[in-house]
Amino acid sequence: MYTIEENKPLLGLNSFRIAATARRFVGFCGGDDLKAFFADLPAGEPWYVLGGGNNVLPTGDYDGTILHPLCRDIAVERREGDTVSVRVGAGVEWDDFVAWAVQRGLGGVENLSAIPGYAGAAPVQNIGAYGAEAKDTVECVECYLPDERRIVSLSAEACRFGYRDSVFKRELRGRAVILSVVFRLSSRPRFALRYGDVASRVRELGGESLENIRRAVTDIRQEKLPDPAVLGNAGSFFKNPVVSCALAEKLAREYPGMPCYEAGDGLSKLAAGWLIDRCGWKGRREGAVGVHERQALVLVNYGGASGADVLALAGKIRSDVRERFGVSIDMEVNLL
Ligand code: EPU
Repeated sequence: MYTIEENKPLLGLNSFRIAATARRFVGFCGGDDLKAFFADLPAGEPWYVLGGGNNVLPTGDYDGTILHPLCRDIAVERREGDTVSVRVGAGVEWDDFVAWAVQRGLGGVENLSAIPGYAGAAPVQNIGAYGAEAKDTVECVECYLPDERRIVSLSAEACRFGYRDSVFKRELRGRAVILSVVFRLSSRPRFALRYGDVASRVRELGGESLENIRRAVTDIRQEKLPDPAVLGNAGSFFKNPVVSCALAEKLAREYPGMPCYEAGDGLSKLAAGWLIDRCGWKGRREGAVGVHERQALVLVNYGGASGADVLALAGKIRSDVRERFGVSIDMEVNLL
């Protein structure tokens, strides 16, 4: 049975540490809980799925029902040769799953170590870091579709993954509740060490292994990114912009050394952090909010900020970047 709480404070449920409340807060585990919940839901009642709250910005009190996944099961579903399919409940802490896999010698998600959030959110924004993305290992996503009152299993192809993008941010936005995700791991992992200084860190730690990659990535993240337990933030606030190669080449001529990555289809990906940094925003503070001193992609709450304070800062940064570089940067964080 699902659980209900009224007027639930969300302060401890969003990593930005913004004070807000939700009129109703419902914990669910399996598909039966969701069937019962949606059968009881009054018509027109808004709902929103909040996992670990690591990628959301509350913009006020939520006058509806927050759905919070509680299923924390991790289970091997199938073994075929070196491939091991593992079903992970939507309420599992992502990094607990990565630790589980690494301890068992199963590769595929080690480069995604230390990303805060729940496993159920991983396919939504196709989490990615250090040369890996969730889409590389997702086999299928089981979700409940309230409009159709049924559970479906979507293949990786049906999830239509892109950079920080999936069907759950498009056609299925607000129309699907993820119950579990099946990841395809390998008992004979191939290590991905091309990104940044992961390879040199791994060498210093004694060579290629799942444990050493996990350690190296965790160390790099801890050095670069603020700990939400200490300083409210939601990781990258903006996505890296994808622009035409022509614009990227023009900017690269003007700004030698500007990071720029091939994105296929005549497109290039720029580094939003670099663009924001060059506009002089890194480390700047405006009242209760600011731009992190070591990573300009991350906006932080020094304490007591509202969602509106964060949005006002984000707006100034966006217009500076647009004015100086002619590039639009979009938010990665979801507004609640
Ligand atoms: N840069 C700067 N100044 C800054 C930040 C970055 O000049 O303040 C430059 C860096 O020197 C580098 C380039 O910009 O040349 C890219 O920076 P970085 O390698 O730190 O990665 P990113 O593009 O800023 C992305 C993800 C991160 C992920 C890292 C590592 C997005 C929006 N962010 O950041 O994801 O950890 O790559 O793979 O794609 C997250 O989503 O919350 C997150 C932290």
